[in-house]
Amino acid sequence: MAITTQQLIQWKQQGRSIVALTAWDYAIAQLIDAAGVDLILVGDSMAVVLGYETTLPITLDEMIYHAKSVRRGVKRALVVVDLPFLTYQESLQQAMHSAGRVLKETGAQAVKLEGGYPAIAETIARLVQAGIPVMGHVGLTPQSVHQLGLRQQGKTQEASERILQEAIALEQAGVFSLVLEHIPADLAMQITQKLSIPTIGIGAGTHCDGQVLVTSDVLGLTEKHPPFAKVYTNLRETITKAVQDYAVEVRDRKFP
Ligand code: KIV
Ligand code: NA
Repeated sequence: MAITTQQLIQWKQQGRSIVALTAWDYAIAQLIDAAGVDLILVGDSMAVVLGYETTLPITLDEMIYHAKSVRRGVKRALVVVDLPFLTYQESLQQAMHSAGRVLKETGAQAVKLEGGYPAIAETIARLVQAGIPVMGHVGLTPQSVHQLGLRQQGKTQEASERILQEAIALEQAGVFSLVLEHIPADLAMQITQKLSIPTIGIGAGTHCDGQVLVTSDVLGLTEKHPPFAKVYTNLRETITKAVQDYAVEVRDRKFP
């Protein structure tokens, strides 16, 4: 049975932790869905597996292409797709067009937008009114990398208060869930207690209602990963070894 946004809110009430991971194509999505992940995010962090330095260059067409591939692999998880940089900030019309394309063309159930400042909260409220489920994202927002860097956010009293207010504004705007990225654990706990929608943390401590990681980090597929990621296996080593073994056998005429 497919997981819904209402199900996630129920799980928060029941204290059941939500398991989320990212995916960028059919093969990965099919594996992580079958392994029991609750929410699959087609994150613009797929920039790393596409060879980009930041998330900024990814286009809406690229996100849609990958989201369609992911969607074909998923039977159970809720599929959420990131709206990439400057496909929603320009105007409400632009955001509606981008989010609408994602839902209509990919079959994903929801979109995610970065930021909690008033104009974004307003845009999100209108998307939600139009029937588009939206996930929020505050704290470190990688689409603002040239302003924020990749540092932990919310370290000062003032910054921490601002992020809390953004979280409240996004809940009022109607997000069904909120990503908290790279903020102090006590701030994430405070936000989690304050909101009735589930918080999904990444580098935000243990007190969130769920956790998300970037799958290429979890699998050890990329050269670098952020300090808060946990690498559960090293696919770079596994793949390198398999390819080297194959190359040796072909050159020695042992395979086939
Ligand atoms: O793009 C992404 O992977 C994300 C997660 C880190 C939440 O936005
Ligand atoms: Na993202």
